[in-house]
Amino acid sequence: MNLIYIGSGFVGACSAGVAASSGHKVLVYDIDESKINSLSSGDHDRIEACLFEKGLGDLLTRNKDRIEFTTQYSKLDKFLDTADAVFMCLPTPEVGETGESNLSYYFDAAEKLAISLTRRNGGTQTKYVVVVNKSTVPIDMVNRTADILTKAGVNNFGVVSNPEFLVEGKATEGSLRPDRVVVGASSERDFLVMRQIYQRFYDSPAVQYVEVNPQEAAAGKLLANFYLFNRLAICFDVIGRTCEAFPELKFEHIRKILTGDKRIGDWGFYDSLYAGGSCFIKDARSLSHQLQTVGYGAEIINETYLANKRQLELFLARAEKEAGFDWVGKTVCLLGLAFKRDTNDIRNSPSLLIADFLLEKQVKQIKAHDLAAMENFKKYGSKSEKISFWDDPKEAVAGADVIVIASDWAQFRGLADWVLSDYNGRPLIMDGRRMWQHCYFDLQKAGFNIIPVGGSFLKGDK
Ligand SMILES: NC(=O)c1ccc[n+]([C@@H]2O[C@H](COP(=O)([O-])OP(=O)(O)OC[C@H]3O[C@@H](n4cnc5c(N)ncnc54)[C@H](O)[C@@H]3O)[C@@H](O)[C@H]2O)c1
Repeated sequence: MNLIYIGSGFVGACSAGVAASSGHKVLVYDIDESKINSLSSGDHDRIEACLFEKGLGDLLTRNKDRIEFTTQYSKLDKFLDTADAVFMCLPTPEVGETGESNLSYYFDAAEKLAISLTRRNGGTQTKYVVVVNKSTVPIDMVNRTADILTKAGVNNFGVVSNPEFLVEGKATEGSLRPDRVVVGASSERDFLVMRQIYQRFYDSPAVQYVEVNPQEAAAGKLLANFYLFNRLAICFDVIGRTCEAFPELKFEHIRKILTGDKRIGDWGFYDSLYAGGSCFIKDARSLSHQLQTVGYGAEIINETYLANKRQLELFLARAEKEAGFDWVGKTVCLLGLAFKRDTNDIRNSPSLLIADFLLEKQVKQIKAHDLAAMENFKKYGSKSEKISFWDDPKEAVAGADVIVIASDWAQFRGLADWVLSDYNGRPLIMDGRRMWQHCYFDLQKAGFNIIPVGGSFLKGDK
């Protein structure tokens, strides 16, 4: 089939790569020239430096004969004559802190697409085309998309909701082997087109292929993200907090007791200073906003959002409160800039908020280290000459008065042993991901003060 992807971010690029690997002919359009240049470079490293997703470079280069990346709209125009579907993979961030989705990227792209669609096949519009909402959008979006197209004079089209469930850091693998594919359509014709596109998943016994109406598909995505976000918040704000309140409780032991129950399961059972990323927060906020707009309450959703916010504030406040630490004039080592391990995505990363907090506290300098996200942080994080970036984590640690661990790169774990055996200084350790939990007691014995989420190991404590 002939497929167009508008937007070549994590979702667009990975989905387009999988479509090409399924044998479809794919055109990917984006307005970001440097991204398009990287993705079409044929160079694995350059592709994955742009979108840090293991396997993406290989996926795109292996299927290069069937996939083209472009910023030239004229190519999209031409491709529309034969396109079976157009996937909308645009960002849908939150407008400020309102909960409302910023649909301007989507609308800009949809309105331009609508004009092009009216001109397809020399204006006869004979080719049936499906416009697919792959972005995470409000529940009634299918109607709004159809309105835009109809108002522009487009005919012979369908609108489908096909939300994406990939997980950043495992996006390529997740797109090649999804646990489920959800298709929301309102006609058998559209279901049929989507089945042809996703034939390999439709036929696979390992994939749950779910066909529902478009509103259910869109709502299912928002509800799934809220559910996961809520699990994280419960883990931080209830389980972790209980472990902080009662020093006899070790978080990892409590976790074992709870996850032994199959009904509870084990996803999201780690304590953390914050749940960031581009989706959970804004999708939960969007769900809350939509419910309140139609006159319903959204207390649990709102409290989940607040619990997450509170978690970071409480964590940072513990340095002063529990260790009597004064941030003014101090050197801080900030380990982890991405919102989690295995990604270079810093959207809603706790490190953005931590850097702002530290600058406000008038620290002397922030020595930052991350395995993939330093370039993005330089571009989108706070701009201050107090922030320096270090490729070697040991150099970032050197001379620090406090180490703040903000994301869970596996490589950070081993650093604890080095700090314990080879490092002379005794910085305060603020472990926001319990990365060094395997040696809290040893560190404490060696004279370190450690404030991890879900516990406390101060020098004087037994
Ligand atoms: N990232 C994830 O893990 C994930 C998972 C599931 C769903 N989603 C949803 O998918 C959507 C896209 O997310 P993403 O992470 O891929 O975003 P992204 O920011 O990585 O990519 C979006 C791309 O759209 C491009 N773009 C913006 N306006 C455009 C226009 N008018 N025409 C063409 N291109 C344009 C941007 O340049 C960018 O490259 C969002 O709604 C998001 O909530 C994301």
